[in-house]
Amino acid sequence: METSPFVRIVVFVIHHKILPMSSIPETMTAVVVRQPGGIEALSYETDYPVPALADGQVLIRNEFAGLNFIDTYYRSGLYKQDPPFISGQEGAGRVVAVSSSVTDFSVGDQVLYMKLGAYCEYTAVPASDVVKLPSGISMEKALACMVQGLTAHYLVTDATVGLIQPGDWCLIYSVGSGTCQWAAQMAKLKGYKVIGTTSATKTAPSCCDEVIVLDTVEGKTYSDFSSKDIVQKVMEITNSQGVKLILDGVGKSTSDISVQCLSRRGIWISFGNASGPVPPFSLLKLTPKSAFCTRPKLSDYVATREELDRRVGEVFEWVKDGHLDVRIDHVFPLVEAQKAHAYLESGQSQGKILFQI
Ligand SMILES: NC(=O)c1ccc[n+]([C@@H]2O[C@H](COP(=O)([O-])OP(=O)(O)OC[C@H]3O[C@@H](n4cnc5c(N)ncnc54)[C@H](OP(=O)(O)O)[C@@H]3O)[C@@H](O)[C@H]2O)c1
Repeated sequence: METSPFVRIVVFVIHHKILPMSSIPETMTAVVVRQPGGIEALSYETDYPVPALADGQVLIRNEFAGLNFIDTYYRSGLYKQDPPFISGQEGAGRVVAVSSSVTDFSVGDQVLYMKLGAYCEYTAVPASDVVKLPSGISMEKALACMVQGLTAHYLVTDATVGLIQPGDWCLIYSVGSGTCQWAAQMAKLKGYKVIGTTSATKTAPSCCDEVIVLDTVEGKTYSDFSSKDIVQKVMEITNSQGVKLILDGVGKSTSDISVQCLSRRGIWISFGNASGPVPPFSLLKLTPKSAFCTRPKLSDYVATREELDRRVGEVFEWVKDGHLDVRIDHVFPLVEAQKAHAYLESGQSQGKILFQI
């Protein structure tokens, strides 16, 4: 027997647990990369299809998306992704539809997630990757704690593989900017002594035990790492022992300095490319200190639901208790995506950059 369109709509709504009052459009606003390149590769489009809801997913009406350096790497083609794709790795908003197999989320829940395709109005996300917004934290602050906060968390905890202990020195570059601002505070919470570097244009968190202030590259707002003898300073501070841990998101400009600043059996965690990728180097450079080097990524440190919940839980508790100061640097409208990427790449930001959608 033929069913009427009305019955088919009711069945669809019930099956997918869609908010009855919400009208989910067929198309939406999105920032799309159709061809990798410079900031002009970010195309602001108003008629991009709203994603279909697959089994196990929730559909989220994004209110904010986070901006991360990795977005610029996918945009430029340094990291590969088949175009066209919607830019962005993290978002926050309200659930507007839930697939029938999902039991732990409801329409109306305020949520956060990390998944490619966040610079847009609607994102379909596997429920297993979605986190509920805890009470007592604003959506903006909670979102700021996702990619950068969770990265800082795994860097100062599990990625160190026990090679640094409370009371030991660590060196963290660019403590006035995003990830490393959280990392410096978390390192102190773990009991490490922190040497931070920052360019003169930024402010290091007050928790740092020692700060090395660097001049900026001419005409830029980020550090000239040759403007001070960082190795000598680190050796002075640590009685010529070097540091047990280095958190290095700068990459190309700091890799040689990092190897020289390590203590015996210290670990250099190279986690980013803000100045460009680390050039190839001989492993023999690690021999004099029997040093360790790792090049980790966040997804391997939130690989299970249990691990994601544990990390998110600890970071949110620190924020709620006032142990972690999370700075929002700038909130751009989505239509200014190109301007926001230029701002991030200029190295000016002193905290989290967000889009309001
Ligand atoms: N592996 C992972 O799991 C993971 C996760 C998150 C981020 N990352 C990576 O970590 C790096 C830093 O990310 P972030 O979120 O902390 O970025 P951010 O907040 O924008 O900070 C980057 C900082 O790097 C310094 N810098 C040095 N040379 C620079 C240059 N040539 N251009 C721009 N900045 C330069 C600047 O600080 P100063 O002014 O003090 O010099 C700048 O503020 C990125 O490469 C990112 O992709 C990796």
